[in-house]
Parts: sequence; structure tokens; C-alpha cells
Amino acid sequence: MTVNLIPSTHATVELFPTVVSNAIAKLSIEEEKHIDIDIDNIEENTYSRINLPITYNIGDTQTNLASLISNYLRTLNSYYLRNLGYPTNQVFNYEALVPLLNFHLNNAGDPFLGSSFSLNSTAFEVCVLDWFANLWEIENNEYWRYVTTGGTEGNLHGILVRTLVLGEIDCVDLKALLVAHNDKPAIINLNIGTTMKGGVNDLDLVIQTLQERGFTSDRFYIHCDGALFGIMLPFIERAPRISFKKGIGSVAISGHKILGCPIPCGIVIIKALSRDVEYIASRDVTITGSRCGHAPIFLWYGIKRKGIMGLKNEVQKCIMNARYLHHRLRDAEIGAILNEFSNIVVFEKPLDENFTRRWNLACTGNIAHVVVMQHVTIEMLDSFVREFLRWTLSTSMRCKRR
Ligand SMILES: Cc1ncc(COP(=O)(O)O)c(C=O)c1O
Repeated sequence: MTVNLIPSTHATVELFPTVVSNAIAKLSIEEEKHIDIDIDNIEENTYSRINLPITYNIGDTQTNLASLISNYLRTLNSYYLRNLGYPTNQVFNYEALVPLLNFHLNNAGDPFLGSSFSLNSTAFEVCVLDWFANLWEIENNEYWRYVTTGGTEGNLHGILVRTLVLGEIDCVDLKALLVAHNDKPAIINLNIGTTMKGGVNDLDLVIQTLQERGFTSDRFYIHCDGALFGIMLPFIERAPRISFKKGIGSVAISGHKILGCPIPCGIVIIKALSRDVEYIASRDVTITGSRCGHAPIFLWYGIKRKGIMGLKNEVQKCIMNARYLHHRLRDAEIGAILNEFSNIVVFEKPLDENFTRRWNLACTGNIAHVVVMQHVTIEMLDSFVREFLRWTLSTSMRCKRR
């Protein structure tokens, strides 16, 4: 496939050199079957690792490099069609942004102040941040924020406090802890969607618990870790709302999860607490120095293209498909759980490691999960369940024979 993104007569041709791509495009599961990629032997078949080491004193040829990249694309195609365990959205088309990859864009420093490095995309970044500020209900002059390298960097702006059990806070225990530590302020890192089980903490209940124990808004700080669910809940009916109007201090999400940014990135928005914080915010408010200038443009493009309605449809489809998988597993008598506002289906870890690897399942202890993202179709889920049953049967037969 050849993509000429900029007509050669265009006045900006020197600014945006033509990018030619002869890469295999992303395949559908049907197309993948058609070109017959053998997923079971992917290591030997498509990944010419042998040619990857950089050992030459002289540069390699374009032809060799193109063939290595083509091989790598075949590998990626096979994996992304069975990527069930991790919450990355693989459905996107950013071809229109390819010309921007000819530039190093760097957003070092505060996006609202800009910097003397003029090849930056802070104008796009500010638009993305304003969109999130509006979503989470905070006025423009009340916060500082920036596009991060991912959910984790956003979480570093909060402080972790011990919570109970696996994810969701047990508010009865929280109450007891608050009574025991009544003399100190409470700093809470609240999971809005736990990683493994997709348990959504009830923000309203946590705030109510704090208030009942006499913790007024100046005596608590809540950071919301909404890596995946922070951008899903606003589009699900009756789901708990994240809003700065409720008195939270900060929110972080990942940009490569629901929003489908090809580069790992995220958003953090932090309510300005005092003059001192404002003072720091007016200088370098970020953790990293150099920051990816392409990420805010990918985020901006993705959100602008889909709009609220597009995002809502995608989130609802993920939730419906997760419910479908949940039912299919239960019908097949495989114990599975699915939290109410969640797209994460949890079940007992399959015994065969080849199976978990083949479907890219994330496992912890004796449980595994499927995160139903936008690229996960009913067809994929059907073939997953079929194989799950087949492999479970053959593993148990092997165990019996021993
Ligand atoms: C609750 C939660 N927080 C943080 C992260 C990490 O996010 P990132 O990969 O963007 O650093 C994840 C990743 O799945 C997550 O589920």
C-alpha cells in the first residue's frame, strides 16, 4: 500500500515531506486467517530475530530494513487479534497524522506557559486538557494539568495509602481507620476500576464516610486512579461520577487504553490547593523534563474525531461484549465474575500456559482476566471460549493419564 499523504503540488510540501508506507495494514481476523499466519509457530515463522541485532559498521539497506519491519508487522497482526488480557484499544487509524512523525515535537515544561522550544504541540495539549477539565467538572483557573507518559506518572502526583483487600475499599474498615487516626488528615488513592477485577470504588460513599467521621474537605485529599475506567464511567448510565465538584484533589487516566493512542500517554488534572502549588505550577509542573509532543495530537485527533457520542458507543459496545463473554463462560460452567460497570471478565487461571500466552491473558495468582476493549469482537470471544473448553478438556485428560 502506498500512501501519499501530501499532494506534491501542495505549498507545504517542504514542511511536510511525503511519507511512503509499503507496510501491511492492520488485518481483521478473517484476513489474518486468509493469509494464513500460523500463530502457534509465530516465533519461528515471522520474527526474524536473527537479523535484528545492530552489528554492522555500515548502515543497513532500505530494502533489508523494510523487510524486517514487514515481518514485525506480521507478528503484530497475529498478536493484536488475540490480545484479550490487557486494556489497550487497538482500533484506530492515525494515517492522517503520519506526516507529523517527520518532526521531533517536544512539550517540555508547563503546557500553559509554552517554552522557547518552538517545535511543540502545546496548543493541542491545552485543548485536550480543557476537554477533560470539562468532563470532570473543574473550572479552568482552578487546576494545573498536563499530558503524562501514562496512568502511572499521573498516579505519582497522588500519595498511596493502604487500602483493604483486592482493590475496592471496604468502607466499614475505612470508618474504623478514620476513627483511629482522627488526629491526622486523610490522603486516599482511590482506584476507579481495579486492574485485575475491575472493581469500581464508590467515590460518593468514600466521601460520605469521611464526612461522617468529621473529615471536612480541608482535612482529606482524594486522588482518583482512573487509568481505564476514568474515561469509561462518564459514558455508562448510573455509573458513579468522577467530578471535582465532589471535592476530589486529582484524577489520572491512561491515553492508550480506551482512547486508543498508539503511544503510551495519559492525562493528570490536579486541583490547585494553595498559592504555593500555583507558584510551582507557573514553573515546571511536570515529573519528566522532555515530554512527547506527538501524544497530545493523537489524543486531540482521537477525541475530536469520535466526539462524545462516538466514545459512548464504543464504551457501551465493550460493556455489552463483556457481558456476552461472561454469559458464555457461565453457560459453559466456567466460574466467571464481572463487576457492574466493568469490561473486565475474571475467571480461574487456565492451567495450560500455552493457552494463556496464545490469548495474551493477564494472570495474578490463580485468576486470569479478559479486558474487552474495542478490538475484541464477538467472533474473537466465541473462538476464545471454544478453545478454552478444548484446552481445558485436553489438559484435564493429560492430568488424569499421569
Ligand atoms: C488501576 C490502574 N492504574 C494504573 C495503571 C497503569 O497505567 P499505565 O499503563 O498508563 O501506566 C493501570 C494499568 O492497567 C491500572 O489498571
